[in-house]
Amino acid sequence: MDNAPKKVFVKTYGCQMNVYDSERMRDVLAPLGYAETVTPEEADLIILNTCHIREKAAEKVYSELGKIRRMKRVRAEQGAEMLIAVAGCVAQAEGEEIVRRAPAVDLVFGPQTYHRLPQLLARRRAAGRAVVETEFPAEDKFEGLDAKALPRKGVAAFLTVQEGCDKFCSFCVVPYTRGSEFSRPIEQVLTEARRMAAQGVKEVTLLGQNVNAYHGLDARGLSIGLAGLVGELSRIEGIERLRYTTSHPRDMTEDLIAAHAENPRLMPYLHLPVQSGSDSILKAMNRGHTADSYLRVIERVRSAKPDMAISGDFIVGFPGETDRDFESTLSLVRDVGYASAFSFKYSPRPGTPAAESDRQVPDGEMSARLHELQTLIHAQQTAFNAAMVGRTVPVLLEKPGRDPGQLVGRSPYLQSVHVQADPTLIGTIVDTHITGVGTNSLSGHYARAV
Ligand code: SAH
Ligand code: SF4
Ligand code: F3S
Repeated sequence: MDNAPKKVFVKTYGCQMNVYDSERMRDVLAPLGYAETVTPEEADLIILNTCHIREKAAEKVYSELGKIRRMKRVRAEQGAEMLIAVAGCVAQAEGEEIVRRAPAVDLVFGPQTYHRLPQLLARRRAAGRAVVETEFPAEDKFEGLDAKALPRKGVAAFLTVQEGCDKFCSFCVVPYTRGSEFSRPIEQVLTEARRMAAQGVKEVTLLGQNVNAYHGLDARGLSIGLAGLVGELSRIEGIERLRYTTSHPRDMTEDLIAAHAENPRLMPYLHLPVQSGSDSILKAMNRGHTADSYLRVIERVRSAKPDMAISGDFIVGFPGETDRDFESTLSLVRDVGYASAFSFKYSPRPGTPAAESDRQVPDGEMSARLHELQTLIHAQQTAFNAAMVGRTVPVLLEKPGRDPGQLVGRSPYLQSVHVQADPTLIGTIVDTHITGVGTNSLSGHYARAV
């Protein structure tokens, strides 16, 4: 295989899992001579790691491909080659269609096949035309990736521990694009986390579509849940903080809730999507929980850990959603009091049951509901942040800020905090006295090292 120095540009869309996958793609490409560039024009290989969760996500990819095609033409005029790859969830869902719509594309591969990138590139060269690979291979992708890992940069890192989904919410493409639920064996996760710790990572966020459904096998072949995994990880020296995302209300087990009370390394932040506050909509969504069972989970979590910051996801305008259903969503939001939340207009996804419904909600109505919901969420978020002023919180300093003398870090509640502090403190946790609050961040003064 040709491993002369080459450049790869990777653009990542979608969730944190894609961020993790993009890093792993760089790992696999490094032995082939690929170094990362931030300038697409000079790249020998451009990878778009795509997201299919909502309409605009895929459309953005096609418009980006239009721009890249022009870059590829300029490169060809200069006598150089530029390969274009589409990876991720749009690649998985659209497959050959991408090559039909954007013939300049050379490679199409899904989230479960990127460990085969070297072979895919070789096949592309041999074939002289586009290669599309969207199967779900039986081999363990992660086994194929681990030996090639490059050093991780930075203080905070993502670590995928679980992938795929068997829940089939009626609006969602993830079960089709990521495949069925799979948990990495515990030892594999621990090895990766130890390597991260050795490279200076202090905070690890465990990732999964349903991360709290994690059930990895230990060395004896016993199944361990997320709480057990968190326990093991918190014994690794150097890993000061642990987070996990995204959780499903149905999988919020007692031992995981207890871990929040007992394990000081597990951060008091829970992203727990609910989607709607109306039981009939939740039923039509096939969520497998009610508004009330969700609220009870929140109650249990808060009684174990009273300062827990709760975040969520909402969809407005799911087919058949009435004004009353929407009112129930607003009422649930008022009951919970979110630290932050994401909300989206329903987007019909090809191949999902809800897309077939003849009760689609008009766009104007969806916009009005989205606006109302976001106004409420924004007010809650602002109140949550404002309540921090005057308090002293431990902040993990991650990197230099925009202003001189300033560093940026995160509070336990995942808020961005700007602190006046010396750059040598990057990678440490410092008690910070919070003095100010902006739209999306806090500011404060360094009080002392923790
Ligand atoms: N596994 C996570 C969600 C992953 S998708 C969970 O079950 O909670 C992230 C978010 O995108 C979802 O929580 C949902 O709010 C939103 N989403 C998913 N499909 C959507 C669709 N078809 N239209 C609009 N929003 C959608
Ligand atoms: Fe999608 Fe539902 Fe699975 Fe989450 S649980 S990934 S929303 S199907
Ligand atoms: Fe998007 Fe795929 Fe993640 S559809 S949200 S990139 S799992």
